[in-house]
Amino acid sequence: MTAGPTVEAVDPVRYITNHSTGKMGYALARACMLRGAQVTLITGPTAIPKPRFVETVPITSAKEMFDAVVERFKEQDLIIKAAAVADYRPKQTAQDKIKKQGEHMALELERTDDILQYLGDHKKAGQFLCGFSMETKDMLENSRKKLKKKNLDMIVANNLKVKGAGFGTDTNVITMLTEREEVSLPLLTKEEAANRILDQILSMKEPRKE
Ligand code: CTP
Repeated sequence: MTAGPTVEAVDPVRYITNHSTGKMGYALARACMLRGAQVTLITGPTAIPKPRFVETVPITSAKEMFDAVVERFKEQDLIIKAAAVADYRPKQTAQDKIKKQGEHMALELERTDDILQYLGDHKKAGQFLCGFSMETKDMLENSRKKLKKKNLDMIVANNLKVKGAGFGTDTNVITMLTEREEVSLPLLTKEEAANRILDQILSMKEPRKE
């Protein structure tokens, strides 16, 4: 499981991040644990206490999340990527505080690795890969494209502009997309949503071969 934001340093004082609080990913990690799974949670900085009985791996940047995921993904039967990973990071991180100069300033950014794309490209037989997709418009169309392009088994789409969905809230409004199905759920708590996501995954996933 991955959760939370990533944080990309600009200099020792500033950083670039997003509004993710980690609530959805932590709810999923806990729901998996309560169903008896052995869970590894790779998490960006959040204010939520570590879930009990879950191996928690704290990271800061997208690069650190990439390394932590790649190191562990081969042993996982189910991977859910709820984290809001930065798509770009500062091309250079200044070693000292950047002093102000002039009226304008431009920051050069470079692309980060797409962790989920890497996982889709290297998916093992029997492994189930579930992504998240946050959109503000054309949610279904864009999410379906991500499902296919990243070689996912399922993607959970949510629209930040829908009341009760998205970052920070204790609720979410999600649509689960698979190659054949599209299941839209009403407003649910993130715990309820997590359990519905797991029900859907378990109805599709091949049982583990011991
Ligand atoms: N993701 C990732 N690595 C990245 C960016 C995104 O693993 N560098 C994963 C997220 O964890 C999520 C999924 O990809 O499960 C979709 O993320 P989202 O931000 O909705 O879409 P993007 O693929 O980044 O596309 P865009 O930002 O153009 O909408």
